[in-house]
Amino acid sequence: MSDPVPHDPVPPESVPPESVPPESVPYETVFTYASPALKFGPGAAEELGHDLRQLGATRVLLVTDAGVREAGHPDRIADRLRADGLAVTTYDGTHVEPTDASMRDAVAFAREEGLFDAVLAVGGGSSIDTAKAVNLLTTNDGELEDYLNAPVGRARAPERPLLPLVAVPTTTGTGSESTTICVLDVLSLQVKTGISHARLRPTLAVVDPLLTASQPAGVTAASGLDIVCHALESYTARDYTSFDAKAPQQRVPYCGANPISDAWAERALALVATSFRAAVHDGADRTAREQMALAATFAGLGFGNAGVHVPHANAYPVAGQVRDFRPAGYPDGEPLVPHGMAVALTAPAAFAWTYVASPERHLVAARLLEPGVAGEGPDVLPGVLRRLMRDVGMPRGLAAVGYAEADVPSLVEGSLRQQRLLATAPRDVTPDALTGIIGASLENW
Ligand SMILES: NC(=O)c1ccc[n+]([C@@H]2O[C@H](COP(=O)([O-])OP(=O)(O)OC[C@H]3O[C@@H](n4cnc5c(N)ncnc54)[C@H](O)[C@@H]3O)[C@@H](O)[C@H]2O)c1
Repeated sequence: MSDPVPHDPVPPESVPPESVPPESVPYETVFTYASPALKFGPGAAEELGHDLRQLGATRVLLVTDAGVREAGHPDRIADRLRADGLAVTTYDGTHVEPTDASMRDAVAFAREEGLFDAVLAVGGGSSIDTAKAVNLLTTNDGELEDYLNAPVGRARAPERPLLPLVAVPTTTGTGSESTTICVLDVLSLQVKTGISHARLRPTLAVVDPLLTASQPAGVTAASGLDIVCHALESYTARDYTSFDAKAPQQRVPYCGANPISDAWAERALALVATSFRAAVHDGADRTAREQMALAATFAGLGFGNAGVHVPHANAYPVAGQVRDFRPAGYPDGEPLVPHGMAVALTAPAAFAWTYVASPERHLVAARLLEPGVAGEGPDVLPGVLRRLMRDVGMPRGLAAVGYAEADVPSLVEGSLRQQRLLATAPRDVTPDALTGIIGASLENW
């Protein structure tokens, strides 16, 4: 690992005035780190019977989606668990990029089926997030809207403990197996939001790279860019020491960049550099698949504590306001801008804008992601990102997924609603700044 990279090496005159803290405010001196227990490696999913028994499970609810089920993993795992003496009920109705309606459907299924003593998610972020909502709403009173982040929901905290949740990712991207959030689309409001609470974090993450080899190339590409942005955003996030001091009960899981999340982000970027293009272009490349699974895990462990900022905030309206874009590799039928793609499309312009807050970090990240890249200045990291995005087959920009100049104001408005994420940005995010970033992202190359 490299030496710690300073957060504020910019000479004072080039620091945007809004990011200079007033001197009288007491600053945070403490950061926190939490993660699930983790099992990693080819064949790890074969041991789920043992793992679930250790957690006291006898009746397991397995949550997946139809595409993952078609790949064969959930039924193979369920058969193995039954052979180990566990009762397994499978729910495969997860919506790819869950909605409030799809989550209610999953919860209704689980409530109707009766009592379970463990939840097992087998799938990408969509299945893992759906399992988190099911776990919450079958162990605690109330309905989805009670727990959704304010102002969309009432941001209620769970009062009772949840069941053990074992998360088995089949994509290499979201890191949802490590995090405290579940993300969903509220259809009536055309807005993506989530539930965020420490009790949602899976008890155990079982990362078996063999399960990820069947991902279509388009899914590998979009979810891989989610890894890249998790690592880059947590690495360039506001430092935890720049937030106001908090009492222990006020601390949230996302505390800003810190030495532990930095280490995970750096390692994730280095792994992506050697494996991402290969995993997309040769899905059978076992080494590349293993390294991408490791990179997703590392980035998840990092951002799951530090947080993410502008590209993720922009991704919510980019995905939520989609009209008719239908990407390769995803289910036919509904329009969709996949999460990782939605995040990446504004990332080059976002990192050009955040550069001034920590130039050194942006350059270190660029060199980790593309060893040997030359140059200085705000365009180095965006250039690295554009080359990577082009090589893995991303659309050229927001225009290529259906947006025009006239859509910029509503995308800006949607992004501004994500104050929880924007608060982690290393500069104060103004409507003008977002207008510039989103406008510049209509065509990235
Ligand atoms: N909770 C979090 O911390 C967090 C973080 C980032 C993203 N997310 C959310 O996760 C969702 C995206 O998840 P994702 O990118 O992992 O993809 P996904 O779960 O939406 O799956 C994408 C597609 O790939 C298919 N698929 C997945 N694994 C496969 C495999 N091994 N073989 C064949 N097909 C496979 C699925 O059937 C689906 O059609 C979004 O809703 C996003 O908002 C959550």
